[in-house]
Parts: sequence; structure tokens; C-alpha cells
Amino acid sequence: MSRLTASAEEQNQAMEQYYVLQSKIYDLTRWAFLFGREEIVRRLPLDRSAPQRILEVGCGTGYNLRLLAKRFPKAQITGLDVSGHMISRASQAVQPFGGRVKLEQRPYQLGDMHFNNQMDAVLFSYSLTMINPHWKSLLQQAYEDLKPGGVLAVADFHDSRFPWFKAHMGNNHVRMDAHLSPWIKENFDPVSLTVKPAYGGVWHYFMQIARK
Ligand SMILES: C[S@@+](CC[C@H](N)C(=O)[O-])C[C@H]1O[C@@H](n2cnc3c(N)ncnc32)[C@H](O)[C@@H]1O
Repeated sequence: MSRLTASAEEQNQAMEQYYVLQSKIYDLTRWAFLFGREEIVRRLPLDRSAPQRILEVGCGTGYNLRLLAKRFPKAQITGLDVSGHMISRASQAVQPFGGRVKLEQRPYQLGDMHFNNQMDAVLFSYSLTMINPHWKSLLQQAYEDLKPGGVLAVADFHDSRFPWFKAHMGNNHVRMDAHLSPWIKENFDPVSLTVKPAYGGVWHYFMQIARK
């Protein structure tokens, strides 16, 4: 299956398959290369004393859900993921927060009516670069799910000048073509964009905040 032609269903199946094994080693390995996750949560321009509604799309093992729940003690947080294996890890991670953090296992996709205009913030952390070629429609759905003025926050891989590295990441479903941030800038109200090097510039990652 080519990542450029995969149907949404094929793409979702590929994710479920990939994370059968990866879910077991995810938390042991990802701290070493998924940079910017703490920073994007710290940067969220939300009132910490208000009961915000926050959605993380592709919440994985719940790493960010825990950060969000700690930083926004009154927030209602939803973590959504297509992979049952990842959601099952996340359910252990968010147990201490009781009913304040809810999990849903299903693919996020355009036309989803669950959260229309209800979210104060939608976070995508290292999910969009894996959702090919459908990343645009997921951002469009986030637009629908945000309240007017609501916050879109994205942390993800940006690019690499090394073809061997991009090929390696491609084998792991990740597209690194600096394709996300310009589209977000054009289709949301831009607030901030920070691009940083990882490991002396082997790749760059970015953190972007925008509003509906
Ligand atoms: C690299 S992990 C990121 C996990 C977490 N956000 C983090 O920062 O550690 C990407 C996650 O996105 C999920 N995912 C991919 N496509 C999705 C879709 N269409 N809807 C929901 N989740 C999706 C995958 O199952 C996976 O758990």
C-alpha cells in the first residue's frame, strides 16, 4: 500500500497493525525522540482555573493526557485513538484522574459529529505526520470541533535534510516534508510557530498554536 493512495480504512488498519507491537515498547522508547510534547502542553493558551474541554487526537499511550490533566486540573479531557492496543495502555495511564479523562477508540475523521463546536482546544501530538494522505481532513475536522476562538495545538516532526532519515521514518509511516505548518497557518488564525533541531539537526520538529 502506498501511503499517498491509501484509503482512510487502509490507513486506519495500518495504524492498528503497527501499534500491536509498538504499544508494548512505546513509552520505553519515545522519550528519546518525540520532543516538544511537554512544551506544547505548557504553551496552551487556556485558563487553568476554568473547566476547559480538551481533545487529543491520536492520544496513544496517554503520555500527553497525563500532562494535560495535571496542568489543567478542572479540564474535561478526551483522548481518542484508532488503536485498541494504545488505548488499553492509555487507560492505565489516566486511571488516577478518574472520570475527568475519557478515552474513545475510533478513527478521527471528517464528518465526525461527536464534538461539533464544543472543544476549547484540540491537540495533535506526533499523529498528523503518520496520517497520510488524510492529515488535511483531520485538521478540517478539528476546525469543526473547536469553539469559535478555540485553540489548535500541534507538536510533530517537521523535516530532515537527510534522505536516509526520511526514508527510515517513511518505513515507520511518518512523512517529513514540512507539509503541516504552512497549511495550518493558512487555514487557522496563526498564534505561534517554533521549529527546533533534534540531535544537532538530524531532523527538526515543530510546535504550532493557532485559533479557529
Ligand atoms: C506516534 S503516536 C502519538 C501518541 C501521542 N499523541 C504521543 O504524543 O505520544 C500516533 C497515534 O495516532 C494514532 N492515530 C493514527 N491515525 C489516527 C486516526 N485517524 N484517528 C485517531 N488516532 C489515530 C495512532 O494509533 C497512534 O496511537
